Amino acid sequence: MSDPRPLLFFDSGVGGLSVLGPARALLPQAPFVYVADNGGYPYGTRSEAEIAARVPALLGRLAERYRPRLIVIACNTASTIALPVVRAALDLPIVGTVPAIKPAAAITRTGTIGVLGTDATVRQPYVDDLAARFAADCTVLRHGSAELVDLAEAALRGTPPAPERLRAVLAGLFDQPGGDRIDVIVNACTHFPLVAAEMGAVAPHPVRFVDGGDGIARRIAYLTQGQSWPADPGMGKAVFTAPQGDTHLIAPALARYGLDIVETL
Ligand code: DGL
Repeated sequence: MSDPRPLLFFDSGVGGLSVLGPARALLPQAPFVYVADNGGYPYGTRSEAEIAARVPALLGRLAERYRPRLIVIACNTASTIALPVVRAALDLPIVGTVPAIKPAAAITRTGTIGVLGTDATVRQPYVDDLAARFAADCTVLRHGSAELVDLAEAALRGTPPAPERLRAVLAGLFDQPGGDRIDVIVNACTHFPLVAAEMGAVAPHPVRFVDGGDGIARRIAYLTQGQSWPADPGMGKAVFTAPQGDTHLIAPALARYGLDIVETL
């Protein structure tokens, strides 16, 4: 029996595409709905209370409307703040996206890791906890950038980020005391892997970037093993929470991720 229920991915914008990409590659039979809460964008400069109120309510509406088999919160800001509340409120598997500090600690040679996220994410106790549990023997330097989120949104709309802007963002990590020893950067915002190659090109020395995309894909495969999928999943559906004027600019990037139906909630 074929089961049409989709996997629903959720982010404030296009960042979650960096999580959707590896999941599509691993699960080609899966139908996808990708939701960008552009009506609430950006999340990273909002308060904890705003995120904790907005995200569970919106996901409740989305679960009713699209009847997914599983939801991926493809956003570090929403996950590090609202994951427990969402899990308590919804009766279906919820996969979160949290900073990939554990894999970073496994590969650093200098013992100094940079964590690049939104302002909201880098101040979360959740990040303190990950650093204490998985990187206790490392120096973990953090930097929050709202600008990098905007640069990634623009990049997906066809405007490449200016190298000097990226250099300035990275200086927020490398210019901290001991920052010259950073050899691994955790992209702790799902927008940032979308511009990781460009960041690597302007970094003051070679650095590796890590994120949670591959691990999340494996987690979804594990949670859905044994389930049936439609014979032909068709193209995925892109959903925005507010009307947006530049659909024509974002449509080519959505198409690259297998998303072609653009609708407003
Ligand atoms: N992509 C989101 C994250 O992973 C947040 C970006 C934003 O809206 O500030 O944190």
